[in-house]
Amino acid sequence: MAEILGLGCTHAPMILNPAEEWADNRKRLFARVPNYQPPASLLAELGDDNGRSHDRRNQQKVVQAFQVLRDKLHQWQPEAVIVIGDDQGENFLRDNLPTFCMYTGSQVDGYPFHRPGGKVNLWEAPQDARYSFKCPEKLARDMVSSLIRQGFDMSSATEMKGWKWGLPHAHINPLTFLDPEGEFPVLPLFVNCYGEEAGDGYPPRPTAERCYQLGRAMRRFLDTRPERVAVVASSSWSHSFLTHKFNCCEFDEEFDRRNLELLRKGQGSKLAKLTPEEIQQSGDHEFLNWIIALGVLGDRPAQIVEVLDDQSQVSFKVFAVWE
Ligand SMILES: [Fe+2]
Repeated sequence: MAEILGLGCTHAPMILNPAEEWADNRKRLFARVPNYQPPASLLAELGDDNGRSHDRRNQQKVVQAFQVLRDKLHQWQPEAVIVIGDDQGENFLRDNLPTFCMYTGSQVDGYPFHRPGGKVNLWEAPQDARYSFKCPEKLARDMVSSLIRQGFDMSSATEMKGWKWGLPHAHINPLTFLDPEGEFPVLPLFVNCYGEEAGDGYPPRPTAERCYQLGRAMRRFLDTRPERVAVVASSSWSHSFLTHKFNCCEFDEEFDRRNLELLRKGQGSKLAKLTPEEIQQSGDHEFLNWIIALGVLGDRPAQIVEVLDDQSQVSFKVFAVWE
């Protein structure tokens, strides 16, 4: 049986910025929603400093939680870090959008600060700062073969050609905190979480059940291998601008808190039963990344490192470890 370290975190763009920048991030995201109406809880958080005090506290929590995860990862010394995240109209657009795609190249780069919002960042790095990672090519190719033989028609890519910035932000943002030195080989898995929400002509996202079963199939493969592996589930949970049941004005804390309890109790397999409608209505599209990781990890209790539930940070964020 493979020994697998599990980590769960957010990849929200604002985590790269100092707290002073978060109000602008918020403004940009809320501007996407026609007739945006802030909920009372958000107005209370914004107070008389436009949320600055909450932002400072939340930014500090994010940095501290990533430090915990970083320490666990570096103690674990994995031979491969599988990062499960979604490419959001970055490398894959509707002209060619795999439901699941595994990276099988020998190395990969990422540029976390290239967006306009990356100019002022916690690292005071230039916008074109590049982070390079070696990749476990053979392990990745063997995993793709195994998955296909197990009935999952897994796509693969040996290069990131869709744009010039390499890894999507779902993958590079957590890596900037967890392993910016590129000490460990990285195996990116791309998931079409946004699905039809990305725009006209985009294919639907996979179901929670299919994601969970993919994770189980990955685990069956890993159980045949000697490599010491870590798996990173990368995404915030409910996003306010995707929560249709609340007119895309606030994230669904109640739904996420229920799911959080299942993780805490080691009952992640129950999340495979979430319906496409529940995920769509609660703005938990990207939670599918976590559901795949839960399939890999099996039903064991998560240690919850941090939970950020302020509406002012636009999405519900959880940091978790499975040792
Ligand atoms: Fe995202």
